[in-house]
Amino acid sequence: MRNNRKIMIAGNWKEHMDVSTASHFLHRLQESVANRQSIEVVLFPNVLVLQPLSVQLDRRKFRLGAQDGFYKDAGAYTGEVSMAMLNDLVHYVLVGHSERRHVFNENDDVASKKVQSAVRNGIIPVLCIGETLQERLSGETKQILHNQLTAGLMHLTAREAAAMVIAYEPVWAIGTGEFAKPDQVEEAIKYIRNQVSQLFGERTARHIRILYGGSVDDHNASAFIELEDCDGALVGGASLNHEKFAKIVDVAFKVQQKRMD
Ligand code: PGA
Repeated sequence: MRNNRKIMIAGNWKEHMDVSTASHFLHRLQESVANRQSIEVVLFPNVLVLQPLSVQLDRRKFRLGAQDGFYKDAGAYTGEVSMAMLNDLVHYVLVGHSERRHVFNENDDVASKKVQSAVRNGIIPVLCIGETLQERLSGETKQILHNQLTAGLMHLTAREAAAMVIAYEPVWAIGTGEFAKPDQVEEAIKYIRNQVSQLFGERTARHIRILYGGSVDDHNASAFIELEDCDGALVGGASLNHEKFAKIVDVAFKVQQKRMD
């Protein structure tokens, strides 16, 4: 099946870098990362630095994403920033990241509301799903992926789902240095695409992008990005090093060139 999907490399900076550090870092990154328009490179800094970075950003090279956003557009929700407030700053928003699920107790219902709110406000959600080690060891991986995916995509039209991005991020591989094996990633991604096909039809499954995330670095990135069904990577730790991140972008660019030949 020929694949017209654009590879995405996403850098999730998490709760790192204040305004001046982030600005310095972006300056370095813009020097290190070449202009690669055949792929998409998206940076997810903390919400405080989105605005200043948006002014400095070289839009030929990068897009911005938010690490989170609340599903109520406005109101008495102390501490929250809504998707409606983010939509002129970002193209993408992470939803259901394992740190949101496990540190902040966000469940599938919250993830579903955030996906819907993002779509309603013109932001593309990157829905993160993945099993814990315990769930993998007890043979529940597919069930977990199924549950998180169906909850996250609930209430969307096929067209809205097709534009989305899913990140397969096994919880045990995030920030641990213990990345999944490429055949485990391949199996999970194929399963996810198959589920999307069951929910929305083959056309949607052909369009939706599915990334891998979990201890991706400049050494292992090619093993994941080269998988036929994998459309890129969500990178945490290694995205905080401009040289490593630039190398991952280069790997993705080469794979994309091959796919277009
Ligand atoms: P990591 O993080 O690359 O540091 O494992 C990935 C993520 O949290 O998305």
